[in-house]
Amino acid sequence: MSLKDKIDPDRLPAHIAIIMDGNGRWARQRGKPRVFGHRHGVTSVRETAEAAAELGINYLTLYAFSTENWKRPRAEVTALMKLLVQTIHKETKTLHDNNIRLLAVGNLDNLPDITHRELMEAIKETAHHDRMAMILALSYSSRWEITRAMNQIASDVKAGIVDPAQINQELISSYMTTKDIPDPELLIRTSGEYRISNFLLWQIAYSELYFTPKYWPEFRKEDLYEAIIDFQKRERRFGKTSEQIVK
Ligand code: FPP
Repeated sequence: MSLKDKIDPDRLPAHIAIIMDGNGRWARQRGKPRVFGHRHGVTSVRETAEAAAELGINYLTLYAFSTENWKRPRAEVTALMKLLVQTIHKETKTLHDNNIRLLAVGNLDNLPDITHRELMEAIKETAHHDRMAMILALSYSSRWEITRAMNQIASDVKAGIVDPAQINQELISSYMTTKDIPDPELLIRTSGEYRISNFLLWQIAYSELYFTPKYWPEFRKEDLYEAIIDFQKRERRFGKTSEQIVK
């Protein structure tokens, strides 16, 4: 029985989010510059997106560039932005072939013009696809997102658009950049680090967390299958007792 066959198609997570980590270390281990790892990470992105779409996952969110990543050496930031443009351009075909819609969350105004333009074009061109949404978190951090939401809520309260008595979890969620996207049920982090690194803090309140020692450039379809099989073994109680969970 293959790993894929072990997955119960009726209990798939609708939304998987991934912290793609370890590109730099993978490259260094091979005596190569860090950007070599990022380039190889693109193959993992393609494999993972294809595997997720084939399985019937509805949403796949990839943490591609954090707000904090702007502090990396200038040459690496430039190389990453260039790689993003090339990848988006080249992989739009993969998105079409797999009926995948591209979306992005984050402070996109901070992206270089060319990256922003390429991204917006791919988002527009793939908007009609409905098999899966692939969401790139770019120039994203959760604290940035939450602060932005709080500012917008405060300004809508001031403008009389929102009554403070209306503020509840649903309203707060509707001010997040992920407002039309369900919360991830499974969060994967590669490279053996056990951190969330400012990613989707509001949205992962009840997500199952899965950590793998594999570096991102080594991550393949089978690794996604393994994470999903592990997810399916877990009992999601959402604060209730085991007995209360209807099997
Ligand atoms: C983390 O590894 C990875 C990144 C900051 C960039 C991820 C980018 C890609 C995989 C390329 C393009 C992606 C898309 C979605 C088109 P790291 O550099 O932090 O590795 P380290 O922890 O070993 O230093």
